[in-house]
Amino acid sequence: MEAVLQESDMLVDEIIAADLIIAGVPMYNFSVPAQFKAYIDNIVRVGRTFGFDRGRAGEPYWPLLAGMNKTLVILSSRGDFGYGPAERIAHMNHVEPSIRTAFGYIGITDVRSIAVEYDEFADNRLATSIASAEAAVEELVGRLAGSEELKMAM
Ligand SMILES: Cc1cc2nc3c(=O)[nH]c(=O)nc-3n(C[C@H](O)[C@H](O)[C@H](O)COP(=O)(O)O)c2cc1C
Repeated sequence: MEAVLQESDMLVDEIIAADLIIAGVPMYNFSVPAQFKAYIDNIVRVGRTFGFDRGRAGEPYWPLLAGMNKTLVILSSRGDFGYGPAERIAHMNHVEPSIRTAFGYIGITDVRSIAVEYDEFADNRLATSIASAEAAVEELVGRLAGSEELKMAM
């Protein structure tokens, strides 16, 4: 069991050491790819990234990475369009919501996300979507590079 847990231990150590986590996550059948789900299953670890106490009054589960000023950036892409908040098929998007839930559960609540859409249409709407995602990335990098917490860690 210890040998099997080695990779998970390494991934947990990595996320504990990180101030900024960049996750590239395409949408596969409305959710995250199996590999990314496996990553989540390896970092959501009792005693390492969340606490659990059956006898605890109130909330028996609590995040262990809270208050550490970690930022998660989700860079996603999808073939269809309209998955953004309040858009055409927002209710079918289980990528960003499930990632926010899992990372929030372990205490990482500063989550930013940027997505490209129209990949399966391969027309000018895809080009526009890529251009606006790239502009959003530039803007986010500028804001994060200016953040005092991240500058101290750099
Ligand atoms: C197995 C699979 C499932 C997909 N499911 C969806 C989907 O549910 N909704 C969607 O909009 N696009 C879907 N797509 C399109 C991808 O999200 C899109 O093409 C993305 O850019 C692929 O990224 P990748 O090249 O890194 O795999 C799917 C693609 C694949 C290969």
